[in-house]
Amino acid sequence: MAKPRKIIIDTDPGQDDAAAIMLAFGSPEELEVLGITTVAGNVPLSYTSRNARIVCELCGRPDMKVFAGADAPMARKLVTAEHVHGKTGLDGPELNEPAMPLQEQHSVDFIIETLRREPEGAVTLCTLGPLTNIGLAFQKAPDIIPRVRELVMMGGGFFEGGNITPAAEFNIYVDPEAAEIVFGSGIPIVMMPLDVTHQLLTQKGRIERMAELGTAPVKAMVEMLEFFERFDIEKYGSDGGPLHDPAVIAYLLKPELFKGRHCNVEIEVKSELTAGMTVIDWWHVTDRKRNAKVMRHVDADGFYDLLIERFARI
Ligand code: BDR
Ligand code: CA
Repeated sequence: MAKPRKIIIDTDPGQDDAAAIMLAFGSPEELEVLGITTVAGNVPLSYTSRNARIVCELCGRPDMKVFAGADAPMARKLVTAEHVHGKTGLDGPELNEPAMPLQEQHSVDFIIETLRREPEGAVTLCTLGPLTNIGLAFQKAPDIIPRVRELVMMGGGFFEGGNITPAAEFNIYVDPEAAEIVFGSGIPIVMMPLDVTHQLLTQKGRIERMAELGTAPVKAMVEMLEFFERFDIEKYGSDGGPLHDPAVIAYLLKPELFKGRHCNVEIEVKSELTAGMTVIDWWHVTDRKRNAKVMRHVDADGFYDLLIERFARI
């Protein structure tokens, strides 16, 4: 059997980030998580670093190395999303404060050191939040850029527009300068935009199936997702909320669930009106370099089958 793929999860938990981490931990045959690096995003860094450790402990992985990273975007003031995720970012269930330590090393240095240590082309970066840590790492140590196997991100939107402004998706909006560095780096990128994640609704039947697993970690996850979905249900009247970040991990496990196209993607960094917009050349109307595989369709039932199957292994 093939060796598990080595990944670093860069994240700003967030209930949907937590679901992505749980999915990765439920898939040890396919994925080896080398470390979890946190970034400010949904909530400030102190909370995302706390939350990542809570999720590790919840999943029975107190041995995981969690590193705190950037506490603010590269060139802008931090924008957070407590209106979606609650004050802590993991609002919903009652959770214990984590006992496991935070590593002393900064996320950016961990990313650099790991990419230099592991064989070239061995490490995949999975980004579930603003791209600040990756932008900083590429800026500080450009020699690591050609060593990255692939970067799979949740970020951006095109046909669905934005979710924090009419033009921009949250992760890219928070740090467009970092996103610009990443999209300009030349590494293989797979992008899970809102166009995909808005198809992954936490419909009632899906959450009920999840709840039937009955274990303590999944019970806490269900309570997180019930809190998380209330925002979209109230705002859009949808049947559940979009489970964004697990799409990244699901892609690594079952890429055949997703369909997309190799396109040019540029990031708007100048305009105030459209800051953080991902300008996707879906129709190839320019000769600009095709720098990302942009996903547009997903088999949502297949995705939830996978999620529930792997949650059952936690
Ligand atoms: C993204 O922003 C955050 O609120 C979610 O965790 C996800 O990563 C969706 O726009
Ligand atoms: Ca996130």
